[in-house]
This record gives sequence, structure tokens and C-alpha cells, in this order.
Amino acid sequence: TSSGSGSGAKVLKVGSSIDFAPFEFQDEGQKEYQGFDMDLIRAIGKEMGYEVEIQNLGFDGLIPALQGKNIDVIISGMTINDERKQNVLFSDPYYQSGLTMVVRSDEQRIQKFQDLKGKKVAVQIGTTSAEEVKKIEGVEIKELNTPADCFMELKAGGVDAVVNDRPVNDYYITKNGAQGVKALDERLTAEDYGIAIGKDNKELQQKINDALQKLKENGEYDKIFAKWFGE
Ligand code: ARG
Repeated sequence: TSSGSGSGAKVLKVGSSIDFAPFEFQDEGQKEYQGFDMDLIRAIGKEMGYEVEIQNLGFDGLIPALQGKNIDVIISGMTINDERKQNVLFSDPYYQSGLTMVVRSDEQRIQKFQDLKGKKVAVQIGTTSAEEVKKIEGVEIKELNTPADCFMELKAGGVDAVVNDRPVNDYYITKNGAQGVKALDERLTAEDYGIAIGKDNKELQQKINDALQKLKENGEYDKIFAKWFGE
């Protein structure tokens, strides 16, 4: 953790892949990063007495940046799993998610994940979607940089389905009013999001967990949740 010089405020350097509405995204013509994760980490920083500085990095570059100490934490809709736990510490879970798929509206052949056999599927590189789709036999997988790239590929006919996190798929279709595509109900996995912290930084992990706990107790977490996921 770096301490800011001059101003006296401690700085929390945060990495996020700003491509994942409603968790982290940037509206055209707007400077500020927005979303559930952005509000949550700013609230956590405030609670801890830290100034929050957010850097936009590719999703597959986040853990390397944390290991290289270019950032102090990652908040990026990142699923807590054992593989990642070998390289980072995680906070307590802060959001329950899971994977679903999006197909073209006129798609008849694909209704279940098992129907993906022999089909082309786009996923964001470095994600649990990539990992899970690789387990399905006979799928041709295209790993792209962002979920937006995956959706474009689906619309252009380059793939038959996109596998991605359920709340992001739902937001894309309902809030963004995406045309010509639909999300399917079946859930491939249940996953919890956590904030990732450097493997040797137990102290920061504790501070983050304490702040998260506080925000859950004082209603601030619920407010942020309602802002992004309420009616
Ligand atoms: N939950 C998935 C994972 O951890 C996807 C996260 C992608 N996040 C993002 N900001 N693009 O692998």
C-alpha cells in the first residue's frame, strides 16, 4: 500500500477492467468510471480513510498487475476460486453471480449448455467463462478481449453463443436494450465475487473486510446495491 505524499492521504491503487456494466463501465462523454464495483470500492476507501485511484486494465492483466505491485487491489466482478487463490488473497464475497449464455433471438438449436457441442462460443479471455466453456466437449471457443467484443461477434454471426456473467448479460439485454439477442435462463455455475489483494498483504485484506462489514451494517452496501440492481 502506497502512502500519498504531500496531501497526507493514503492512496488505494485499484485495478479494474472497465468493460463490465453494471459493475464497471464508462459512458461515452463521461470521465468517471461508474458501476456497482466502482461505488463499492470508493465507499470502502472512504471508510478506510484512503483516497481511491482506479486504473483501467485488461481483465487478464489484473492479477499480473497485482503481483507486480502496480496496484493494491482488484475489483472487477472477479470470481473467487481456488486457482486464483494460489496467487492472490480475496476479501469476503460481496456479490453472488454465475454464468449464463446469450444467443441470437432466432436461435433454435441452442437452449441448454449441452447444446453447445459442435458450436462456436465467444468468451472474455482470462475469465471463468473461458475456463468453464473449455470443459464442454466439442466446443470451438473464441477468446476475445471484452464482453462487448463477444456480443459483436455473436451479432455478426462469427459465433453461435456468448457465455458470460448473468448480471452483465441481463443488463446488456434489459438496460441497454440490445436488439436481436436473448439471454437463456440456465445457469452453468454459481460464483461469488471478491476483491483481490496481494498475497502478502493480510493486513490490507483485514481492513477491506472490516470496511465491507461496516458498509453492510450501516446500510451503505444496500443503497449501492439498490442503485444498480433495484427496479
Ligand atoms: N466473473 C468472471 C471472472 O472472474 C468474469 C469477470 C470479468 N470482469 C470484467 N470486469 N470484465 O472470471
